[in-house]
Amino acid sequence: MDWGLKNRLSRIIQPEDNRVIMLAVDHGYFLGPISGLEEPQKTIVPLMPHADALMLTRGLLRNCIPPDSNTPIVLRMSGATSIERDILPDEGLTVSLEDAVRLNVAAITLSIFVGTEHERQTLEALSELVDFGEEYGIPVLAVTAVGRELGKKDARYLSLACRIAAEQGAHFVKTYFCDDFEKVTSSAMVPIVIAGGRKCETEMDVFEMVYEALEQGAAGCDMGRNIFQNPHPLAMIQSVRAIVHGNAKPKEALEMYNELKVEKVAAV
Ligand code: R5P
Repeated sequence: MDWGLKNRLSRIIQPEDNRVIMLAVDHGYFLGPISGLEEPQKTIVPLMPHADALMLTRGLLRNCIPPDSNTPIVLRMSGATSIERDILPDEGLTVSLEDAVRLNVAAITLSIFVGTEHERQTLEALSELVDFGEEYGIPVLAVTAVGRELGKKDARYLSLACRIAAEQGAHFVKTYFCDDFEKVTSSAMVPIVIAGGRKCETEMDVFEMVYEALEQGAAGCDMGRNIFQNPHPLAMIQSVRAIVHGNAKPKEALEMYNELKVEKVAAV
């Protein structure tokens, strides 16, 4: 791995423990103003000091994120679909590679849709980003199994999709947690981060999922809704961070969450 690429990746996956907590806020690229991100700046900016990286679109970046921020940016490069139509996997690249450089991003990302009729176009787009990333020293994050693909989130499918992404050259891969997750991480060749998925019923469900994923070889999480849709997002991100970087157990994270949410309420 070339120096620049390794340097950028080290800003995201922390070299001290090879782990990462990313905050995913790119949902609007096909979902519009989803709950929690109606006024993105108000939600995102207070959370940034607790995230190792921010995953988002260029529109959100330019409109809502202070340019003097130091949080590394993972820029979504794919899209052109919406929840209004039934063809979410029909994505293409929507951002020029020059614009990614102009925005000084730490990594670029896109979704791939293995097993759909759009498999080829999304894997070719991944290859295009990897060619560019290798040339200019920018790591590529491949996102697997978003949307209706969630129906297939078993270890067989996810290990297939993650390994294909790595074989195409992705430097790290984002996917969903599943039973036998170790099968996914052990065969992927590159670091795996988990998405949070739809909001879980309880905070403990989130903490247990993150803890288990790490135990089974994940490098961390790239979490969105389970943080920004929580009634206490600041308490939530700090508690998830304690699991990722502080080796906190789920029960300890819950205690931390309960303490932090009270402090926040008291401060208001
Ligand atoms: C979906 O296409 C986006 O890439 C999201 O960033 C991803 O699903 C992670 O967010 P969440 O934790 O809400 O699942």
